[in-house]
Amino acid sequence: IGKPEDSMDKSNIVTCTAPVNIAVIKYWGKRNEELILPINSSLSVTLHQDQLKTTTTVATSRSFQEDRIWLNGKEEDINHPRIQSCLREIRRLARKRRSDGDPGFDLTSLSHKVHICSVNNFPTAAGLASSAAGFACLVYTLAQVFGIEGELSGIARQGSGSACRSMYGGFVQWIMGQKDDGKDSLAQQVEPETHWPELRILVLVASAERKPIGSTSGMQTSVQTSCLLKHRAESVVPGRMVEMTEAVQRKDFAAFAELTMKDSNQFHATCLDTYPPIFYLNNVSQQVISLVHRYNRHHGETRAAYTFDAGPNAVIFILQQHVPEFVQAVQHFFPPESNGGHDMISCFVFKAGPGPCVVEDPAQHL
Ligand code: DP6
Repeated sequence: IGKPEDSMDKSNIVTCTAPVNIAVIKYWGKRNEELILPINSSLSVTLHQDQLKTTTTVATSRSFQEDRIWLNGKEEDINHPRIQSCLREIRRLARKRRSDGDPGFDLTSLSHKVHICSVNNFPTAAGLASSAAGFACLVYTLAQVFGIEGELSGIARQGSGSACRSMYGGFVQWIMGQKDDGKDSLAQQVEPETHWPELRILVLVASAERKPIGSTSGMQTSVQTSCLLKHRAESVVPGRMVEMTEAVQRKDFAAFAELTMKDSNQFHATCLDTYPPIFYLNNVSQQVISLVHRYNRHHGETRAAYTFDAGPNAVIFILQQHVPEFVQAVQHFFPPESNGGHDMISCFVFKAGPGPCVVEDPAQHL
């Protein structure tokens, strides 16, 4: 990141981190591409940032000639429309704050250009929602730099839909909203991360290959061609949002798990109903699905749930006391050599975690 040549005081350089989230009721399909307004509400769990996160540093300086951005060490095009949307909206809020006459507001920073440097500590585009953590972190960090507080999920949403849910910790819903201007399409915390301390989230990485079709274009084709998606958005998800919220509030694992699996399956069914069809699941994903069902059947109760985003990696929800037994089952059924040409499965265990935060001592952090 470019080093500001004028005063390096703390106010013009800020580093923050933001978490990944995993949807248990999936977002798939937009009603407005530019504002990123979804055709259905969704609900997710925010992962703890001890392992997966995006870290973003934003510096402002009088000496910077233009806005610039580096992602994972490589300079990218700052004119990307979604990055521009976030920058524009943050600056708009900052101007509003100035015109509202907030005395604590730093008048100079508004005219300054920004240098943004963002790193993920996990593979981009491997189905692990890097854009969600990335845009959440961008918006949160810019807001810190410009001294903006309050509701920011509506801006993160304009970077990437799922990013609005990474603005909060714990269990988070993205309410689709009704308005054409998107003002009511916001994320909201359902329960904090402390609500269900026994819940664990396992990420089973079956393949780190780039996904064949990105979610943005995949969901566009689905909206255009899948009548199952229309049915899902209008007649299935509204009821599931209510049931899922209640299952989370009651900490009813079986209800939570069944809804999670059914919703993942229906999302992938809409992908298959898309024309031409989209396949995100591979052989290993399908084997994980049958392993979970066999495991649950063996115990006569729903102890584990899978969910898959726009990629082949499985995310498993399970209670803490069943983790060792389940991991053993995975290791038994997926010894490296039986993995049919795919990468072997590696397993990472997470808890639910908090939303974005400021890194007070970036040197220590790195
Ligand atoms: C399958 O948020 O990546 O992960 O809004 O076009 O950036 P854009 O899409 P994105 O879509 C995520 C889709 C999903 C489901 C989910 O996270 O809800």
